[in-house]
Amino acid sequence: MRPIDFTGKLVVVTGASSGLGREIARTLALSEGADLVIAARRQDRLEALKAELESQCRARVHVVVVDLSTPDGPERLFREASARGEVFGLVNCAGITFYGRTMEVPLERSLQIVAVNQIAIMKLTLLFLGAFLPRGTGAILSITSVAAFVPWPFQNIYSAAKSAVQHFMEGLAHEYKGSGVSFSTFAPGGMATEMLALSGLDRKHGMDSPFNMHPALSARKALTAFKRHKLCRVPGILNRMGMIIFKHAPRAFSWWAAAGNLAP
Ligand SMILES: NC(=O)c1ccc[n+]([C@@H]2O[C@H](COP(=O)([O-])OP(=O)(O)OC[C@H]3O[C@@H](n4cnc5c(N)ncnc54)[C@H](OP(=O)(O)O)[C@@H]3O)[C@@H](O)[C@H]2O)c1
Repeated sequence: MRPIDFTGKLVVVTGASSGLGREIARTLALSEGADLVIAARRQDRLEALKAELESQCRARVHVVVVDLSTPDGPERLFREASARGEVFGLVNCAGITFYGRTMEVPLERSLQIVAVNQIAIMKLTLLFLGAFLPRGTGAILSITSVAAFVPWPFQNIYSAAKSAVQHFMEGLAHEYKGSGVSFSTFAPGGMATEMLALSGLDRKHGMDSPFNMHPALSARKALTAFKRHKLCRVPGILNRMGMIIFKHAPRAFSWWAAAGNLAP
């Protein structure tokens, strides 16, 4: 398969107001020549990114302010993005987590984690896939996590939601092989983004930990893999080694190692 050429194509990026999503949007516009629909809740951040990108390149950037944890949020984003032009690509990047034992997480927060990290991604993917399949072209990238592959204590609901999306994307890739639609996942380890501070994870892994990958580097790796139709990419040699060990070691070892490493 030839690498994807995003030049002049319209790509929807969720979670574009911060962290990895913002860097993916920047790279898509500045280095790949894509037009964008950027989505998140914070309008000021999205408008600032639109102004920055439109002043630096020829990309057309559309802003959609949306809360993806609401039942109608994903469908509204689909409708508003589709009204801006023929959408070629979808990057599911919006995500939230919480650091702590499962029952310490307020129920409302747990439901929001599932809504943003799992339900919204499934809804958006199904809606856009419904438009891509009849055209025989399109590309979907979902950001998962190393926590998608093994139970990740103290981010349990997040880990379960990421694992569901990882399975979902891999299942779609098999079902729709040869359809012309490309399916990719990108599963980072730690990145120094707002997510760490918002979830309390910064208490465990400081923002300046040398193991945190810079989101701009992570974005470049994600897009390189996406362009090459990689079904699953874990960036960073240490993360990849960790995943190999976790995948092949007895489950009890994974639990023990993860719990020891991650406990507050
Ligand atoms: N940081 C890490 O260590 C790490 C590790 C592995 C995987 N990841 C994954 O990487 C992706 C990006 O995370 P990040 O680290 O870049 O985090 P981040 O800087 O906190 O960005 C999260 C993005 O999600 C958006 N978002 C959150 N709740 C939303 C909602 N209800 N509706 C719409 N948008 C919402 C936020 O925008 P608004 O607040 O403006 O809505 C923001 O743009 C996530 O999928 C995350 O799970 C991160």
